[in-house]
Amino acid sequence: MITVIGNLKGGAGKSTVAFNIGVRLAMAGHTVVAYDLDPQKTLHDVASIRAEQGYEPQFPVYLPDMQLIGKLRSHNGDVLTDVGSANIDGMKAAISICHRIVIPVPPSQADIWSTQRFIRIIEQVRGDDMPELLAFINRADTHHAVRETDEAAAALATLRGIRLLDGRLGQRTAFRRSFSEGLAVQELEPRSKAATEMLSLLTELYPEIQEK
Ligand SMILES: Nc1ncnc2c1ncn2[C@@H]1O[C@H](COP(=O)(O)OP(=O)(O)O)[C@@H](O)[C@H]1O
Ligand SMILES: [Mg+2]
Repeated sequence: MITVIGNLKGGAGKSTVAFNIGVRLAMAGHTVVAYDLDPQKTLHDVASIRAEQGYEPQFPVYLPDMQLIGKLRSHNGDVLTDVGSANIDGMKAAISICHRIVIPVPPSQADIWSTQRFIRIIEQVRGDDMPELLAFINRADTHHAVRETDEAAAALATLRGIRLLDGRLGQRTAFRRSFSEGLAVQELEPRSKAATEMLSLLTELYPEIQEK
């Protein structure tokens, strides 16, 4: 299954989520490969750090090339594709053949607007053959402005074609800390709220992965 993790704005958490999903799927014995189509190459960088440190399991993170669509289609297992607006052609190529799109959305009006714009791009590419659109709130405020997060979630749920996932990821330092070390949040801080949140998001996306 080809899953695109995308939206237009940087900092929404695409690479963080793609990386954590990749590690967890590999831990569960899935064959997982990823494509980093964002010129920032964050997913590629974090996977390189993981490889340098020798942390297991690892999964390959490829960069785009001329045969991108053919390569995306050539894998049998789980394919994760990290796309950003800095490479619109790559983004559209991945959108054109994916089965579903996972969309992390920070809880702000600007992010809701840009998500709307992202959906319009997906509609342009796919027309009547829309993939599943699975959105969730990332970087939810854990102290103040919780109402703003709820409002953003409500606004997100009304966007055309979107299914809002129950899982939310809070704005938590554990995500940043683990990411900078090349570890999934579950590996660095297994008992943290961040790890629990990531695991419930994962089981929504991949129900065959049992919570431990
Ligand atoms: N829920 C979160 N809590 C705290 N930091 C986060 C969270 N999600 C992402 N980050 C951090 O924000 C930065 C940008 O995230 P990243 O995944 O690179 O976004 P994108 O790929 O959408 O540009 C990274 O340093 C990442 O660790
Ligand atoms: Mg990124």
